[in-house]
Amino acid sequence: MSNRTFTMIKPDATSKGHTGAILDQIIKAGFSVKALKWTKLTPGQAGEFYAIHKERPFYGELVDYMSSGPIIAAILEKENAVADFRKLIGATNPANAEEGTIRKRFATSIAENAVHGSDSDENALIEGDFFFSKLERF
Ligand code: CMP
Repeated sequence: MSNRTFTMIKPDATSKGHTGAILDQIIKAGFSVKALKWTKLTPGQAGEFYAIHKERPFYGELVDYMSSGPIIAAILEKENAVADFRKLIGATNPANAEEGTIRKRFATSIAENAVHGSDSDENALIEGDFFFSKLERF
């Protein structure tokens, strides 16, 4: 099992000034940052990143939103990283997220849900590779 996962702090959270608080919660939960980037996706890049959702009705909205403003992308390390990080961020829909989770604290809707967390070790690798070169990770 890999002990790395990939995350993004999404445009709704960066624009509301939640970046520092979210990174703080992630680090206090025991994750160490192995790569970090402050960037903005073009619509083409957001479409490629979320290609797996191409047939979903919300794909267009997702691409527009994820390219609407700056994001933070990061690779995180911790034992059992993928599962533990998904626990820390809470359910995709913040209305269903547990108290104290990042999405419960900072997300406003299922579309603008503050953070992304990889759903498997395989996707964590693919998603990390999308953003970071070998020189940008430790
Ligand atoms: P994330 O887990 O980053 O990956 C897929 C994203 O699609 C998800 O977060 C949400 O931001 C978005 N999403 C999922 N379901 C919906 C939906 N029903 N309507 C709009 N956006 C959605």
